[in-house]
Amino acid sequence: MSLPSQIRLWEAGPRDGLQNEKGVVPTDVKVELIERLVECGATYIEATSFVSPKWVPQMGDAADVMTRISRKPGVTYQVLTPNEKGYDSAKQYGARAIAVFAAASESFSQRNVNCSIEESLERFRPVVQKAKADGVRVRGFVSVVLGCPFEGEVDPVKVAGIAKQLAEMGCDDIGLGDTIGTGTPGKTKRLIEETAKFIPLDRIGMHFHDTYGQALANTYAALEMGITSHDASVAGLGGCPYAPGATGNLATEDLVYMLEGLGIDSGFDLKQLVRTAWWISEKLGRPPVSSVAKALKSKI
Ligand code: HMG
Ligand code: MG
Repeated sequence: MSLPSQIRLWEAGPRDGLQNEKGVVPTDVKVELIERLVECGATYIEATSFVSPKWVPQMGDAADVMTRISRKPGVTYQVLTPNEKGYDSAKQYGARAIAVFAAASESFSQRNVNCSIEESLERFRPVVQKAKADGVRVRGFVSVVLGCPFEGEVDPVKVAGIAKQLAEMGCDDIGLGDTIGTGTPGKTKRLIEETAKFIPLDRIGMHFHDTYGQALANTYAALEMGITSHDASVAGLGGCPYAPGATGNLATEDLVYMLEGLGIDSGFDLKQLVRTAWWISEKLGRPPVSSVAKALKSKI
């Protein structure tokens, strides 16, 4: 199978990355990170989350972030919204792209959004309806698609069923999240095969965490399957506060380096991205986990 010549790279660092930081990252730093990433070429970016600040205090400044970022035309700034309260705030602060997030296991659903999978889908329905009426783009995430921290193996048929319900509800695309990074390329392909029975490939996006070092290999497997929407996070930041042991997303620098080698356009400037990875890492007080960021440090 031939690889795509271009992909849609969703930069998740400001949201997935910073939601998992132990300390509170100042709003100024978040705003500057988003703007720097846009300067690097990001056109799809996860900006923040309108979730309960009791659950995720790291995202408690969502309204400030959305107020203070300067928005570049043509750039999509996506925010997470777990319920109507989140959607209404997101809309009030000018969000034009949102994401709802379901889980593929009951235990993870309870831990992450405090309800069953079915209840979460019912909760998302009015959110998606409102968003559609407002002309707001909606992504429907399914988490723990390649393994659950509480239940272990996850059946790809079950994931595909949840993805189907989200698509039928009106989600524009479906994000398949390997929240704890246990997936491998074979399992990734199987998951895509099952999901593609209901959702066209160009409406599926992959979101890999790199806990087991498989994220780049999994992304390559997904590219071979014809997936053209991929999430990654600058400096490999990230994790979910409700997924014990999960580390960051696939580092954007690692993905962009591989894509350049394959002749696939992501719109990112690699050198500027590596500079941004080091900039945010210095703010957070540790080096990036990305191999490419480390290798290129002396060359930027
Ligand atoms: P709950 O406690 O059942 O909700 O939480 P509630 O309706 O009873 O509300 C509790 C309090 O939170 C109330 O405040 C609400 O007003 C407030 P109080 O009356 O006690 O003062 N509240 C809100 N405040 C602001 N914005 C809101 C909001 N909703 C309620 N939207 C809830 C249920 C869903 C709210 C909670 O569980 C929650 O916020 N969960 C979010 C967890 C989260 O953000 N996880 C990380 C993102 S998912 C992820 O990382 C995976 C992904 O990356 C893909 C992958 O890797 O697989 C996307
Ligand atoms: Mg994630």
